Amino acid sequence: MFEKQIEKAETLVEALPYIKKFRGETIVIKYGGSIMNDDSLKKKFASDIVLLKYVGINPVVVHGGGKEISRWMEKIGKEPSFVDGQRVTDAETMEITEMVLSGKINNEIVTLINSIGGNAVGLSGKDANLFTAKKITGKDQKDLGFVGEIVKTNEGLLNTLQSANYIPVVSSVGQSLEGETLNMNADNVAAGLAIALHAQKLIYLTDIQGISKEGKFLEHITLFDAEELLNHPDIKGGMKPKLSCSVKALQQSVKDVHIINGLIAHAVLLEVFTDYGIGTMISR
Ligand SMILES: Nc1ncnc2c1ncn2[C@@H]1O[C@H](COP(=O)(O)OP(=O)(O)OP(=O)(O)O)[C@@H](O)[C@H]1O
Ligand SMILES: [Mg+2]
Repeated sequence: MFEKQIEKAETLVEALPYIKKFRGETIVIKYGGSIMNDDSLKKKFASDIVLLKYVGINPVVVHGGGKEISRWMEKIGKEPSFVDGQRVTDAETMEITEMVLSGKINNEIVTLINSIGGNAVGLSGKDANLFTAKKITGKDQKDLGFVGEIVKTNEGLLNTLQSANYIPVVSSVGQSLEGETLNMNADNVAAGLAIALHAQKLIYLTDIQGISKEGKFLEHITLFDAEELLNHPDIKGGMKPKLSCSVKALQQSVKDVHIINGLIAHAVLLEVFTDYGIGTMISR
């Protein structure tokens, strides 16, 4: 009798040690642009974030939007181009990127979280100088255009929002000290904020089960393994910035990084609250 209900109760109880462990802590979640196609999955993601907040954990959402930027570029007849997984961004591409990331996508995530009972606030790096960026070049000094990386963060803004129970939702568009708008890799922004906030976890939600090497899926690797893996030929495209940002985050203050499949319903809850971790875990 009540088997199904008891099973549900047990699932809730299984979450208890994790709630105790992570209560009051920050978890930075990078929501990949690669998994934004499915409305029902998006809703489940938003409800996971709201639940984290309700049990006293502080989620910070950083989102990408690669596919959507490319879609809008194609609409105006522009061809997207990449160097080592980084988007090459001319002035016009930067304009589209800002409209899509800080406008459309950011707003969509905020609206979704708020429609489920959360209190999300949309931000870009420009808001209260949440992060300041500097221009970077690609491998062999290749010009990437308006592409930057974080040099300074104003994590005080996020602390203030968190303590007033708001959920920050951050786009990866920032500004340089000279006032230029720069496109940042969202993986990099997530890592930068996770470091600044001394986050317990940095979770990359993407469209693949985790890191694979020589055809094998890697369930758990150490920081040392990850450093070794950086130059492995199997680490390509979008996984390159993800892995190097994971390494950077772990070398500083972040406790562990997870690269998980955001195409699994409730991937965030499964990762944070159950005994079976999903995806690739990289720990110090
Ligand atoms: N060794 C590897 N293991 C796993 N995935 C890899 C590997 N090398 C390259 N990849 C690619 O990295 C991709 C994930 O990065 P990608 O940048 O496409 O997604 P995202 O970061 O979630 O989205 P966005 O950049 O829009 O935010 C995977 O779909 C996979 O094709
Ligand atoms: Mg990416």
